[in-house]
Amino acid sequence: MTQNDRARVAVLLGGLSTEREISFKSGRAVAEALRSRGHDVVEIDVQLDIDQQLRASGATVAFPVLHGKWGEDGSIQGLLECMGIPYAGPSVFSAALTMDKVATLRLLEGNGVPVPKGVVWTAEKGVPTLAKLPVDLPIVVKPVREGSSFGITIVTEEKQLAPAVQTALELDERVLIEECLDGPELTVGILEGQALPVVEIAPVDGWFDFEAKYTKGATAYHVPARIDPVLAERVQAIGREAARLTGCLDSCRVDVMGGGWRGPRVLEVNTIPGMTGTSLLPMAAQATGIDFAELCERLLKLARLRNVRP
Ligand SMILES: Nc1ncnc2c1ncn2[C@@H]1O[C@H](COP(=O)(O)OP(=O)(O)OP(=O)(O)O)[C@@H](O)[C@H]1O
Ligand SMILES: [Mg+2]
Repeated sequence: MTQNDRARVAVLLGGLSTEREISFKSGRAVAEALRSRGHDVVEIDVQLDIDQQLRASGATVAFPVLHGKWGEDGSIQGLLECMGIPYAGPSVFSAALTMDKVATLRLLEGNGVPVPKGVVWTAEKGVPTLAKLPVDLPIVVKPVREGSSFGITIVTEEKQLAPAVQTALELDERVLIEECLDGPELTVGILEGQALPVVEIAPVDGWFDFEAKYTKGATAYHVPARIDPVLAERVQAIGREAARLTGCLDSCRVDVMGGGWRGPRVLEVNTIPGMTGTSLLPMAAQATGIDFAELCERLLKLARLRNVRP
């Protein structure tokens, strides 16, 4: 019997971010999967009294399944470090780093991982115009620290630019304005240092916005991706390298776009990606014979504190 078999696992879900509802879906699925494997699981909706909730629950290990701010950004991980509760998923540092798309992309770029060309915009810079930007239409405008495509606009005409930046500024004080890449849209899951088969994302209409992500049938997924094996290997290699550089080799999902002569580019690293039975990381794991319950259990077994305790 391992330590985790005797543990009481607190699956942390819900939370305070814009992605609260998505987190409930993922968190409940993880809790159910761990219970199916015989684990003692409590589900805790993360609110401002989370420290008291954790203490009262008798949890000996935590499994954060929180997306976005106050969960995927190092906050909860920091609390768990301070409370001495080992936890699954990213460390404080990896979570905080990868929540910030700009910090992540600059780190990757500086280490030879291809990323889209982009620039940061803030309210102090005034009204954005194309003349002030190093990228040309079409462009993508997104909040620096969000997820689930919240606040993202694909701008195809200059008149859409200022409203798009305004929309993103409502969610974050920094906005990333990026060149718009051509497909294919791909994502690569990393598990225990290995890249899983690449998943291809093919929205039926338009781009991979919130609706395409969460409406049944709105997006077709292909695993393995219907791409040249050489491109697939390249995507796996840059995904693994992105995970290594950001400290997410336990597990993460690296979103990638493009192929062709320019090659694939990393859009972002997700440290706590969607975790329902039909989400992308579980889908990729399934393609290698790792079912959802096994995936959750493997992630739980990696739970630990990352800081040295005083
Ligand atoms: N530079 C780009 N070029 C083309 N499409 C893009 C670009 N950036 C983002 N997109 C589109 O927007 C989607 C969401 O972008 P991104 O992954 O950066 O944001 P997110 O909201 O953090 O997503 P997630 O739900 O994966 O956390 C992408 O999956 C892609 O369809
Ligand atoms: Mg993404």
